[in-house]
Amino acid sequence: MGLLIKGGEIITSETRLRADIFVENETVTAIGPSLSAPPGTETIDASGKLVFPGFIDPHVHIHLPFMATFAKDTHASASQAALIGGTTAFIEMCCPSRPEDALDGYHVWKQKAEGNSACDYAFHMAVTRYDANTEAQLQEIARDGTASFKIFLAYKNFFGVNDEEMYHTLKLAAKLGVITTAHCENAELVGHLQKQLLVRGVTGPEGHEASRPEPVEAEGTARFATFVEQAGATGYVVHLSCAPALRAAVEAKLRGVNLFVESVAPHFLLDKSYAECSGVEGMKHVMSPPLRDKRNQSALWAALKTGLIDTVGTDHCPFDIEQKLLGANNFTQIPNGIPGIEERVNLMYTYGVKRGSLNLHRFVDALSTRPAKLFGLYPRKGTIAVGSDADFVIYDTNYRGVLSVATQRGINDYNGFEGFEIEGRPSVVTVRGKVQVRDGAFVGELQRGKFLRREPQYFPGNNVDEAPDHAR
Ligand code: URP
Ligand code: ZN
Ligand code: ZN
Repeated sequence: MGLLIKGGEIITSETRLRADIFVENETVTAIGPSLSAPPGTETIDASGKLVFPGFIDPHVHIHLPFMATFAKDTHASASQAALIGGTTAFIEMCCPSRPEDALDGYHVWKQKAEGNSACDYAFHMAVTRYDANTEAQLQEIARDGTASFKIFLAYKNFFGVNDEEMYHTLKLAAKLGVITTAHCENAELVGHLQKQLLVRGVTGPEGHEASRPEPVEAEGTARFATFVEQAGATGYVVHLSCAPALRAAVEAKLRGVNLFVESVAPHFLLDKSYAECSGVEGMKHVMSPPLRDKRNQSALWAALKTGLIDTVGTDHCPFDIEQKLLGANNFTQIPNGIPGIEERVNLMYTYGVKRGSLNLHRFVDALSTRPAKLFGLYPRKGTIAVGSDADFVIYDTNYRGVLSVATQRGINDYNGFEGFEIEGRPSVVTVRGKVQVRDGAFVGELQRGKFLRREPQYFPGNNVDEAPDHAR
């Protein structure tokens, strides 16, 4: 059965157009004025609404063994929350820890997601050690369609890699045409600062930011950029949180390094005062890099507006209150992470487009098109065009609401953005032509989601000495 979206205003990263959209067999087959449809076609009236391409969250954690516990979500719960918030595909960090086998871990993550996700999904493969087996394993994983890696410069001895391992990963990534994403904080400095604070008797969540100050992230960002440059690779800084790190990334961009930057919803909207509340209120807002001094937010918004920050993700990583309390007597043991997969689109629309100066096209670009382009999903995802997957967010700009744990779909027992007003929300959300959400309720197929295979891509300026002939 076909699907006709009638009378909406289509907004992509480049165009604004009042037109109908016709869908057959999961993809867009026609866009134009007053389209007619064969009998039996499902028709959705989108008049008065904006029609966006499905939003893509390039950074989420769902299955995550971390800090003596597991992130709270399942693929079923996270994908429904994602869809209600307008995210129709996400890229999950597949993070086996350092002692684990990478390929075994990859299969575990894939099996957890398969048949359990209501929206489409892909993975970034974390490289948490580099040994004699790594090259062959990563080649196999890339051949399977997971064409992006993740490294952590933080979390020493758990997820973290050393500089030598980072270099080998980047060289291999350049050879395979795989982009490498990186958590950029100096692990050594974090370790020393944590010890010093504990010795001084600082045990509460206010110690978290103090142990990971802005220069620690700026150093990690600059070092990653230098390694990307020297390896002739393409890099992507995840969850960049502050002006000094942004400066380091922009300096690298200016000297021609293939470096892309992601910031995440919490860093645009929450500041370190949230994490400095005493007790569990503060713990709810512990993530890394930490929430920062508020003065950083204007730099992040300005960089987003101009495209120096390429994408906006969430770093969705829910731990419940009981889990957060694992760090009640020692801030270094508070599980790091804040959920956000459900809230990102509405928050960035409200505080970026409606109340800020973020252009509607840049909003779509940062939350959908650029993630699709950087991670090998474009033009299948990230736009509305003939041939693209029929992932739409029909957006009601007249909706008014307040975010709260009481009304969220996500399964965590708190909402990091409790009390934030929103001006707009998805009215209808489709995944490959199937209606999955109507007015805040999940109404679709729990098993709709498919694994998105992605091909390697060779970015302009990559060192292609070792790349296959067709990529030079
Ligand atoms: O605090 C965070 N960000 N938790 C998830 C793990 C990571 O560093 O991305
Ligand atoms: Zn991280
Ligand atoms: Zn993360």
